[in-house]
Amino acid sequence: MSSANTSSASMTDSLHFPFIGRMPALSPLIAAVAILVTSIGVRFMLSNRSQVPIALSDNIASRNKRIDQYRFDSRRVLTEGYTQFKNQIFGLDTSEGIIMVLPTHFIDELKSHAALSFGATFDTLTLPEYTRIHAATPVILKLFIGKFNPSLGAFMPDMQTMIQTELLAALPKDNNWKSVKIYHILFHLVCKSAARSLLGEAAAENPRWLQVQTDYIGTAISYVQALKKWPKALRPFVYRYVEGYSTLRKQWNEGRAIVADFLARKKANNWEPLQQPPSFFDIVASTYRDMSVDEHLSLQVTFFVAGVHTSAATLTQALFDAAVNASCIAQVREEVQQLHASCGGVIRREHLSQLPKLDSFIKEVLRFSSPDLATFVRKSSQDVTLSNGFHIPSGTTLEVATGAIAMDPEVFDHPKIFDGLRFWKKRQLENESVKHQFTSVSPRDLEWGYGRHACPGRYMAEVAIKLVMIQILLRFELKNPEGIARHESFNFDGQTMPNTEADILMRDINA
Ligand code: HEM
Repeated sequence: MSSANTSSASMTDSLHFPFIGRMPALSPLIAAVAILVTSIGVRFMLSNRSQVPIALSDNIASRNKRIDQYRFDSRRVLTEGYTQFKNQIFGLDTSEGIIMVLPTHFIDELKSHAALSFGATFDTLTLPEYTRIHAATPVILKLFIGKFNPSLGAFMPDMQTMIQTELLAALPKDNNWKSVKIYHILFHLVCKSAARSLLGEAAAENPRWLQVQTDYIGTAISYVQALKKWPKALRPFVYRYVEGYSTLRKQWNEGRAIVADFLARKKANNWEPLQQPPSFFDIVASTYRDMSVDEHLSLQVTFFVAGVHTSAATLTQALFDAAVNASCIAQVREEVQQLHASCGGVIRREHLSQLPKLDSFIKEVLRFSSPDLATFVRKSSQDVTLSNGFHIPSGTTLEVATGAIAMDPEVFDHPKIFDGLRFWKKRQLENESVKHQFTSVSPRDLEWGYGRHACPGRYMAEVAIKLVMIQILLRFELKNPEGIARHESFNFDGQTMPNTEADILMRDINA
């Protein structure tokens, strides 16, 4: 059964952002962190704003009010701009300046353009010279894609055991319905499995590492907001005195001590892997033996920011959708049960492609609730001229309105209907069987971005999300509390986050 799903909600002051442990529940800092976390998408200045029509400018005369609209109801602003200026380039007023939104027919000619940088947009947000959170370099990305991604399957048996154990400990143990704040459980699971494959088994079992990773991003973004209030030229003189600096240093040093221990063991082990399969740290350290502890820590933080919050948010959205789509989820569950029985309970990488209904379901989740409302975010380092003669000045930020495209009736039939089997049905058509997959990237599948910077972590996200979904569907039933519709999301500053404090009801069907 399909159900109407309207996940567009305006963000309220009470945005909760989910951190394990002792983070405060409500705070501007948390909102700021959320902006980075799912963000990898970043914002910047367009020098020649008169070139393009600006979204909402017909209805809202004040630029500041348009900025506020974007900040607190990004989905609506992007959708209105996209609908009004269909197939044209338009601008968005944001707190970081004007962003130029491109129709998708330009992305193929731009996808490998040397003057369009992804890293520059990331660095604008993180101020790496002060926080040490850098975009990954091409050589590191090459190692991640070429060496780490192919080893993902080898992590699966241990990850399955870990997920099973943690879920059974955290979720209801009998068949009475119990209320569960699922986000926090999922965040912790994603965090642990990421720590295991990115740094190592010992890191996944070290609560200090998980906490420091989580806390550091929060402190850094809050610190960046404070530092950005100072003119650029003064920042090298004031950065030590800006609020948050000493906490940032303390957390960095704590993370540093943990990574230093890994590096010392690696050297003592003659640069051989510290575990099988080798972690990403193992791979990087063996290849670049002169990399410092700080460089390793910086990499760990970057991949954590890029991968953990996005995957945990997507998993949470999947369970929120599962809770209100009983008949569709029954079909997905049946598929999972059959596979589980046929493979003797051990799910390997090749089995994931034998779950097309589960794949379709989570892809539909991403269509509705992708963490990034806009993707293919790039900053031009030189003037660029498009094939239609349109001139993009150097320093312009570009993006595509992924969340709005996902709701375009010319792209998807009945786009506002959540149909968990939508992509499975598409794959039944002739010559379509390998398209429309969760990890597909194309001008119609933009949730992972596009081109040379398309998300390299999407296979890692797929493994974590599918393994957790499989374990939950095998063991638990879920639904929303009586009278509660699908939990709404917060759409702010180009990002979507689930309500991290929302409850779903769960019960153990095997008890
Ligand atoms: C559901 C989970 C995830 C979503 C929705 C997501 C989404 C994205 C998007 C939209 C981009 C920008 C691509 C572009 O603009 O073309 C991106 C980039 C990136 N993602 Fe992911 N991501 C997820 C999980 C992960 C994971 C698990 C990792 C690894 C731990 C990861 C690592 C990265 C990195 C390193 C980049 C930057 C790539 C570059 O610099 O070229 N992501 N992601």
